[in-house]
Amino acid sequence: MQTEYVFDTGSDPGHVQVQCLSDMLDGTSTRILDDLGVPPGARCLDAGAGNGSIARWLADRVGPTGSVAAVDIDTTHLPPSSGVTVHAHDVDDGLPEPGPFDVVHARLLLMHLARRRDIFAEFARSLAPGGWLVVGDVSPRLPHAVTAADADDLALFDRVFETAIAHAAPAVGMNLAWAHSVPHEMAAVGLTDVGSAEHAFTDSGGGAGLRYYGSLLQQVAPVLVSHGLSEAELDRMQELVVDPRFSAWSYQFVFTWGRRPA
Ligand SMILES: C[S@@+](CC[C@H](N)C(=O)[O-])C[C@H]1O[C@@H](n2cnc3c(N)ncnc32)[C@H](O)[C@@H]1O
Repeated sequence: MQTEYVFDTGSDPGHVQVQCLSDMLDGTSTRILDDLGVPPGARCLDAGAGNGSIARWLADRVGPTGSVAAVDIDTTHLPPSSGVTVHAHDVDDGLPEPGPFDVVHARLLLMHLARRRDIFAEFARSLAPGGWLVVGDVSPRLPHAVTAADADDLALFDRVFETAIAHAAPAVGMNLAWAHSVPHEMAAVGLTDVGSAEHAFTDSGGGAGLRYYGSLLQQVAPVLVSHGLSEAELDRMQELVVDPRFSAWSYQFVFTWGRRPA
């Protein structure tokens, strides 16, 4: 089926987007996965793998006796690597490998998909007894500006994100209520040992957290302009995201994990 994901992973801003996500979030994701345990020999699936950084980390952990399937509709920035099988595949059409898996990881994927609950349930069904499902998505909490050389820039940043969350997110099918419902969804599909953590941080212009915003705003610019922001304001935002005097809070990322009973 035709996918509804609106960001263009293969484009230049899409490349910046997935690279910044790795830089911002891999530390948190790998700490969670390490705490849960990814033993040698484990069979893993990374859904919506982006640039494959988590898939490569998993391959390193599971070693030659394990396996890692990295799945993405757009594999432009997902190069083949040792221990990782790359699938150019839409998860809306099912899983490219049947499993069972000891670890299924899906970061910033399900919030974008209309059939997220069905696909989530399929991930849960694909788990081996004792296997972990680890999901990360974004909450509705607004990012907001912290420091700027000019007070107008603080107000501009906050206004742009109010517009983006109010109009661009629904227009591009991003569901921001999903992230905090995942613990409940995990329990509802029979997963146990469910846990959740939120991660947010401040970053300065030039850092991955701010350049990530730059890539997102570029990709949803037409929606923002149609809701009253000017091209000049969006150009100013692109200057702020690389200005080290400017800093802002990140999105709030919500990570949730649960396991299939052994
Ligand atoms: C926001 S990015 C997150 C990338 C990576 N998981 C990370 O957190 O760094 C979402 C990824 O999911 C992929 N994607 C979107 N819809 C998909 C689908 N229906 N099936 C498989 N991959 C999809 C996109 O191409 C993109 O690489």
